[in-house]
Amino acid sequence: MLSKKIEAALNVQIELEAASSNTYLAMASWAEVQGLTGVANFLYGHSDEERMHSTKLIKFVNERGGHGIVPSLKAPAAKYKSVTDVFEGVLKHEERVSQSINELVDLCLKEKDYATHNFLQWYVTEQIEEESLARTNVDKLKMMGGEKAALYFFDRDMAAIAAPTASAEKPAK
Ligand code: FEO
Repeated sequence: MLSKKIEAALNVQIELEAASSNTYLAMASWAEVQGLTGVANFLYGHSDEERMHSTKLIKFVNERGGHGIVPSLKAPAAKYKSVTDVFEGVLKHEERVSQSINELVDLCLKEKDYATHNFLQWYVTEQIEEESLARTNVDKLKMMGGEKAALYFFDRDMAAIAAPTASAEKPAK
């Protein structure tokens, strides 16, 4: 059984994951309109993953006797200055999510909720991967220095990363 404190904190995380999904969806749509199909598909896939993160939390809260709440969300930005702007935004967002997961883990230890602590380890591992990928993308874009020709190859790289994500369709556990 979840304590009210942990349930409330998990519901805040549900909202953050759902907001991540919406933000990446808006970024994907913007990239698609720019003709950056690879970037768009990568971000569509990332948005789907974040929705799964939110659903996984909802199911866990319900399983533990709480109630996972579907949040109402603020509309994300529709327009972006550049692809670098998009990926810097992704990195900043992922760093915020990691911090929030760490605070949740900390709270679980304080509250002696070892079941939730154990459940959250999946998110801790996931955040290491996501932050690292986001950082790599920002580094690549910085190296390109805004060159149009390089952006073509970056988009192709993103298409290659997006392809397995789209076909794997990991279901929410
Ligand atoms: Fe589920 Fe990348 O935060």
